[in-house]
Amino acid sequence: MSNQKVSFKTEKELQRAILQEKTRGTPDIEIGQKYGVTFRYIERLITKSQGINISFLGVSKKVKTLYPKDFKEEQTTVWSFKQRGNWATHSGEYRGNWSPYIPRNVILKYSKPGELVLDYFCGAGTTAVECKLVGRKCIAFDINDKAIELSKKNTNFSVESQQLTLIGEKSHLKVYEPKLSVSDARDLSFLQDNSIDLICAHPPYANILHYTDYREGDLSFFDIEEFLKEMAKVAKESFRVLKPGRQCAILIGDTRRKKHVIPLGFKLINVYLDAGFKLRELVIKRQHNCKTTGFWYANSIKYNFLLLAHEYLPIFEKPKTPLPLSVRERGIDYGLVVPTLEKPSLKRKLDGLETTTVWIFPEKDLGKRLNKNVIDRYSNGRGYSTITFVSHFKNEMKFTERNIQKGKELIFIKSPFLSNNPSHSNVEHYLKKTKEIASRELPNISKGGFLAIQTQDVRIDGYIEPLAKRIINTLTMENLWLKEIVVTTPKEQESETEASSEYLKISHQYLLIYEKAK
Ligand SMILES: C[S@@+](CC[C@H](N)C(=O)[O-])C[C@H]1O[C@@H](n2cnc3c(N)ncnc32)[C@H](O)[C@@H]1O
Repeated sequence: MSNQKVSFKTEKELQRAILQEKTRGTPDIEIGQKYGVTFRYIERLITKSQGINISFLGVSKKVKTLYPKDFKEEQTTVWSFKQRGNWATHSGEYRGNWSPYIPRNVILKYSKPGELVLDYFCGAGTTAVECKLVGRKCIAFDINDKAIELSKKNTNFSVESQQLTLIGEKSHLKVYEPKLSVSDARDLSFLQDNSIDLICAHPPYANILHYTDYREGDLSFFDIEEFLKEMAKVAKESFRVLKPGRQCAILIGDTRRKKHVIPLGFKLINVYLDAGFKLRELVIKRQHNCKTTGFWYANSIKYNFLLLAHEYLPIFEKPKTPLPLSVRERGIDYGLVVPTLEKPSLKRKLDGLETTTVWIFPEKDLGKRLNKNVIDRYSNGRGYSTITFVSHFKNEMKFTERNIQKGKELIFIKSPFLSNNPSHSNVEHYLKKTKEIASRELPNISKGGFLAIQTQDVRIDGYIEPLAKRIINTLTMENLWLKEIVVTTPKEQESETEASSEYLKISHQYLLIYEKAK
């Protein structure tokens, strides 16, 4: 607590005054200024006094509309909701709750009316509310009784079955009241094997944000490695209770430590894959609360970091028949060729650079803008090399290495051949070569210099090969730190994809930025 503007004899008095302000609906920023406390302080106080991390106290909700206006199901792998959604009882009051557009999309895509949806990290009940609104049965629970109290309030609204027809499903829809209770996601023993049609859940992101003051079993108190171990229990139980051939959607984001990204999203995907799931889709969910101007812009350039502006929504599938462990074709080495023509621009212009982890460019100059951002930001104006994996025909196995100008600050590996429907053996070969190139080039990069790898997810035999994740799994060199995971995507292109398509259109790529330790 610093710069206290209004003084109190005891901290208790100060806290009482803050809670009164909250009940009156005073915004946190005003409370902070008036009482000289930080946002974190207010958050902790609320969590302690209410047993729950909420932003408003004592504000009653009125349901104005039951449905989102002009709702269209997502068709690509980049989901972006500018407004979080405030239909029915949804609001942003429970900190860290997810936008109702997410469960709505997942439920409509991967379940049918009357089927059973499970959310084992219920929070304020967003998924449960959506299930009620679209005629699905729902079992939802949370470790925190106060969250369940809130979700009971949020699901307590009336809706008639006739109103459900508004969602455009043809079959007869019934309203089902969700079953809400206090329980631990690591133990689903009260659920039978193969009994759930869809899992749709949003765990804590390790200990980034605490959800309770401290409650036994609250996963938001576990540090990353411990958190992942606990989540392995959740994943194993999820696999057991889900029906074969059905989906499990989990929202998760990355975090930062010492200016480097910790790929919590990919680590959690590993955990679910290890439990036996396959990856049906890997959706990128954009975040819109990032500051991209003024102070943030200046700092992002000065300290060379990007603001985290995306989360991952892996949609796993339990295979219909159990798969033998890791059946993979072997990679074949086709050698590398070395022509070069492109002329690198070495001028380092830092204005107009991207400042978050999501780069959106018009399709026609995506390549150019991407180059500019990578080179200007990471080459320090002192030279770089690019190496490009290309193929000239569909599913061709030949890779070409284009090695342009030797530079010590940045090695940029590009992989355009991945857009050409590669096979399993192409992909295995590509991963092997990428690792080889990285090891070979590392001594050529100066300390504090960068290795940038452009890559993308590909769909093979109906499942996603998450190549950014696989590269991160593979490149584990001691003096090479993962600095950023950037997502690049062309500007809106909705109309191209047919609404009935079985799969989402993969519309994003990645840039993995590694830094050589100083
Ligand atoms: C990201 S929030 C979920 C928010 C929810 N999707 C919503 O929209 O309100 C994560 C939730 O997980 C709960 N949680 C933490 N550990 C848990 C556990 N072991 N079992 C069940 N719930 C847990 C927290 O109390 C918190 O409500």
